Amino acid sequence: MLERPPLSLYIHIPWCIRKCPYCDFNSHESGSPLPELEYINALLDDFNHEVARLENNDRELVSIFIGGGTPSLFDGKSYSRLLKDIESKLPFSEQIEITLEANPGTAEAARFDSYREAGINRLSIGAQSFDDECLKRLGRIHDAAEALRAIEIAKLAGFKNFNIDLMHGLPGQSSEQALKDIQKAIDCEPSHLSWYQLTIEPNTVFYSRPPTLPEECVLEDIQDNGQALLENHGYQQYEVSAYSKAGNASSHNLNYWSFGDYIGIGAGAHGKLTLIEESKLIRTHKMKQPNQYLNAINGRDAEIQEIAKQEMAIEFMMNSLRLRAGFSRAQFESRTGLGFDEIVKRVESLVERELIQMKNVERDIFISATPRGYRFLNSVIEEFL
Ligand SMILES: C[S@@+](CC[C@H](N)C(=O)[O-])C[C@H]1O[C@@H](n2cnc3c(N)ncnc32)[C@H](O)[C@@H]1O
Ligand code: SF4
Repeated sequence: MLERPPLSLYIHIPWCIRKCPYCDFNSHESGSPLPELEYINALLDDFNHEVARLENNDRELVSIFIGGGTPSLFDGKSYSRLLKDIESKLPFSEQIEITLEANPGTAEAARFDSYREAGINRLSIGAQSFDDECLKRLGRIHDAAEALRAIEIAKLAGFKNFNIDLMHGLPGQSSEQALKDIQKAIDCEPSHLSWYQLTIEPNTVFYSRPPTLPEECVLEDIQDNGQALLENHGYQQYEVSAYSKAGNASSHNLNYWSFGDYIGIGAGAHGKLTLIEESKLIRTHKMKQPNQYLNAINGRDAEIQEIAKQEMAIEFMMNSLRLRAGFSRAQFESRTGLGFDEIVKRVESLVERELIQMKNVERDIFISATPRGYRFLNSVIEEFL
């Protein structure tokens, strides 16, 4: 039976100093000065409309993720006002994780201090690589020294819990260079590492002018050796691209990937909510263009879409099977409103092909991809279409 899962909040800041040629996120080059005050006001208005959508306000927030774009273009004072107002409408759980994405090209000691003061307790630093040549080819606004400096500033500001974003499979990158990047990141002792293989996305400069990427055998070598290096240093993979020290998996990631609920505010932000009284799940989408978003009214004109019953299983699997730990039968039933019998035949067939494993624990069943299934995850997920 459908139950309300934990609730998170995603806040999107849609501006960057310069658009990176590989990026298809909703990020726009910032003409300066940014309308920081107006945007925070718009976010507050957006949030009020989203809270009104919740069926009961006993819910609390387990995590907040301020992503972008480049949220580190805004000052801590703006986030302080935003977070205080949010907390007055929806209580924060005692263990709330509040993350902000920071671009090393915008790192300043005073600014990072002001984030701590605002209540932000986790930083995600977009280093991408520690090789100047790779960073140049990626069109980044910072070099390797600035990335290391940003990490140092984060530590000095008291951020014990921080993530480093790294990418691999970069234009012209050798396996040795990719492993060197990981080693440099490990030497900075982050609690969490997000390690993404570069993908070429439509509507990007790299799509219209493709760079020369490493060959398949180099990519495989990077994947296998990179993973081993991370694991040898105590970074456990808990999701396709996410690694953490014990106890430092991101609550926001975990809630998102286990088909939890999240409110999405800001230009182009998405949300997902479980409405028990109407017995349905909805997705919300905000308008993408920052100027349109700023000028909109009524919940920033959210587009609402119900998740159709026939799409529920695949939507759930697209999230939960990305987690190494997978999901339980109880979780599947309470988060989709479907009975386990609706998928059991497909699960059993994948078990026979050694792509999925099932474990009985007490009165529940736990389902996850096998190491082989994890290698062919997209095909495994497609079985639930
Ligand atoms: C939305 S970006 C925001 C981070 C921040 N703006 C920055 O770039 O420093 C989140 C992360 O996604 C990753 N990413 C973005 N585009 C990607 C792509 N095409 N392929 C793989 N990873 C990508 C990068 O590691 C990036 O740090
Ligand atoms: S700084 Fe980050 S969000 Fe902005 S364009 Fe580059 S990758 Fe995209």
